[in-house]
Amino acid sequence: MSLITWTAAQYGTNVGFADEEHQTLFDKLNKLYDLATGGAERSAVGAQLDDLIAYVVEHFAHEEREMQAKGFAGYPAHKAEHDALVGICAGLQTKFHAGEAEVNEDVGQLVKGWLDNHIPKFDMAYAEALNS
Ligand SMILES: [Fe+2]
Ligand SMILES: [Fe+2]
Repeated sequence: MSLITWTAAQYGTNVGFADEEHQTLFDKLNKLYDLATGGAERSAVGAQLDDLIAYVVEHFAHEEREMQAKGFAGYPAHKAEHDALVGICAGLQTKFHAGEAEVNEDVGQLVKGWLDNHIPKFDMAYAEALNS
């Protein structure tokens, strides 16, 4: 079973690019989770981890550009949330490639939990500003 399933009811932001990118992000996260918990080769897990993190960084930068372009007041707090997750991801990525950490069930649940909180609380909050 997939770790996370995108539905408009739970994750829809009413911002087209964000909903599209979130669905791609979920696909990449599910693929990583399936590889990591399904006994795939470590090199395949690492390649998928790198791909996911690169996409997350790209997605966050896209949201940040759009928020800044609209002068959205919630930008600083939103950016701080992004930076915190990127920091956690970068730490995991470094440790994974050094052979000091693994991608496992807990990592999957941590990222899912972050998305479950961030998208409704932060991403949905920029809809009005970005659609204006
Ligand atoms: Fe987002
Ligand atoms: Fe965000």
